[in-house]
Amino acid sequence: MSLIVIKLGGSVITHKESSTPKPRTKIIKSLAKEILSISKRGYKIILIHGGGSYGHNLAKKYNLIQGLKEKKSYEGFIKTVQSMNKLNSIIIDLLEKVVLPAVSLPPHSFITQTNGKLNDFDTSVIRNILELGIIPVLYGDPVIDTKIGCSILSGDSIATYLAKKLNAKKVIFLTDVDGIFDSNPKINKNAELIPLVNNQNITNVLKNLTSHNNFDVSGEMKGKILSIKENLPNKNAVIANGLKSNILTEILTQNTAGTKIFLG
Ligand code: IPE
Repeated sequence: MSLIVIKLGGSVITHKESSTPKPRTKIIKSLAKEILSISKRGYKIILIHGGGSYGHNLAKKYNLIQGLKEKKSYEGFIKTVQSMNKLNSIIIDLLEKVVLPAVSLPPHSFITQTNGKLNDFDTSVIRNILELGIIPVLYGDPVIDTKIGCSILSGDSIATYLAKKLNAKKVIFLTDVDGIFDSNPKINKNAELIPLVNNQNITNVLKNLTSHNNFDVSGEMKGKILSIKENLPNKNAVIANGLKSNILTEILTQNTAGTKIFLG
């Protein structure tokens, strides 16, 4: 049975710019329905979600990127873990409402990093859960870091790692834009979607993302592409807009939505 790894970006499931944690309940509900219909088509699914306004504000406030530097950082680590737990509960509850069997696997409880880089981890429980026909749900989380105390593990890293280790057929990243553009679509109306990133155009695409127009300020898109390049050669990945209805079905049936990434 084919395995699909789906990462729901924080900008899809929360109001990411909000200064206080705010979920996009309607969007999560409709994605839950879509995920249910995909699983009925016979796909096995691993679901990963981002932090949005539940994760990034706190991580920034307590400077967790620097690790456990001072007494306050410990408070920040715990508060961010709790906040991510809350968002995860909201998602699990909404999956349960559509009768989708899903269990949460909190990354801080079994995954570590070293200097912000993901360490190898045991995936046997995830495999067992999949075999039972249950969806494992993981998420971006502050985790123990063997060098700096703690660091932020992104959902994107988990997605590419698991897709590689468990040999997924496809990895889908849902964000709040249609895919990768040749300039910032939030500023430039004439920005054009790049339908495919491959070995031929990747250098140009990356150059454009980090050019002076400051298109990818947070490095989110660049980070995704580099992580796919490093971990997923010869695998199909898609970056698409999770705010559009039926997006997952469109990706899996017509394969026309978003930006497809295939790097040999
Ligand atoms: C971030 O996870 C988690 C925390 C900041 C605690 P992601 O990096 O996957 O989140 P999004 O998708 O960018 O919001």
